[in-house]
Amino acid sequence: MTPIKNCIVNKDTTKKPIWLMRQAGRYLPEFREIRKKNLNFIKLCLNENLSSEITLQPIKRFDFDAAIIFSDILMIPFAINQDVKFEKGFGPKLGNLDINEIQKINEEDFTNKLKSVYKAIALTSENNILKNKDLIGFVGAPWTIIVYMVNKMSPKNGLPENFFNDISLLNDLIIIVEKFIKIHIKNQINAGANVIQIFDSWAGLLENKIPDYIYNPTLNIVEYVKKLGVPVICFPRGIRDYKNYCDIVKPDVVNIDYNVDPISIQKGINIPIQGGMDPKTLLTDKENLKKEAKRYLDIFKDHPYIFNLGHGVLPETDPKMVDYLVKMVKDY
Ligand code: CP3
Repeated sequence: MTPIKNCIVNKDTTKKPIWLMRQAGRYLPEFREIRKKNLNFIKLCLNENLSSEITLQPIKRFDFDAAIIFSDILMIPFAINQDVKFEKGFGPKLGNLDINEIQKINEEDFTNKLKSVYKAIALTSENNILKNKDLIGFVGAPWTIIVYMVNKMSPKNGLPENFFNDISLLNDLIIIVEKFIKIHIKNQINAGANVIQIFDSWAGLLENKIPDYIYNPTLNIVEYVKKLGVPVICFPRGIRDYKNYCDIVKPDVVNIDYNVDPISIQKGINIPIQGGMDPKTLLTDKENLKKEAKRYLDIFKDHPYIFNLGHGVLPETDPKMVDYLVKMVKDY
């Protein structure tokens, strides 16, 4: 771990940096304004000026310690030529999966297809507003990416029974996707990202084969990021045993979800922790928000801790509540 600048990833327990997953998004009127005029979500992610502008929207409003580049984990399936669309009220819809076509894609094709993402990172990292703040690049973990590629939509209601029918397809995909995830990380770091977060949003759906589909491929990626000298945060949402995950995958930081008991995490895990508070807390009132945020800050008082949520900010969140939270954490 080589913290650059005043990095959010450090062993100092006196500072409690804050940023929020999905801090750039639909709860902000200025985002909705841009989104209204840009109905194609993938195209919006590929517009380097708008992507950079959206990334900085929450930084202009709130004193967050890090920005996260406005993009999506599904840019990887898109870049390896699987069609990806976002439908209002439905979420992502992926097209046919043709593994032979995917196998033909090389590093150069891939990098070319996402070059505007890297330009957006470069543009954003040069902005003076980020002088003492981090710029987080991110990827989906291999398991979560192949879930979308094979299921072709969000597995909100669980995975279909036939998901595991073609094991050899899943095994091939995990290897291919791991390769492109590494390329995507390297390109984001070269463009100026100084922290990487790996989102394994559907880790909780896997019961067997956790070593094959979660531990091993994620460990390979974590080791790769460490070799590039950049700290790496993992978010294996819903995994039952966070401690075992940390012992095996060894991220620099682990983001916990809101279903785990923060006290047992604090006692059992000795690496820096991020997140945990239920995003629904931001939909209640200031008094309750203060109480809940303080609960996490108290539990992690003597532990390296980055304040964040147990999943992304909900679209119905009032920006005033976010403002209140950031100020409260800064004054703690
Ligand atoms: O502010 C940020 O966090 C940076 C940008 C970001 C987005 N998506 C923008 C986005 C990040 C880090 C993501 C990660 C992502 N994308 C994950 C992992 C985190 C998680 O939420 O579990 C996943 C699973 C996706 C896939 C995805 N993208 C889904 C399921 C959806 C539709 C449902 C939803 O939550 O909106 C998206 C669309 C998306 N990605 C939006 C944004 C701001 C909403 C787009 C819109 O309709 O305006």
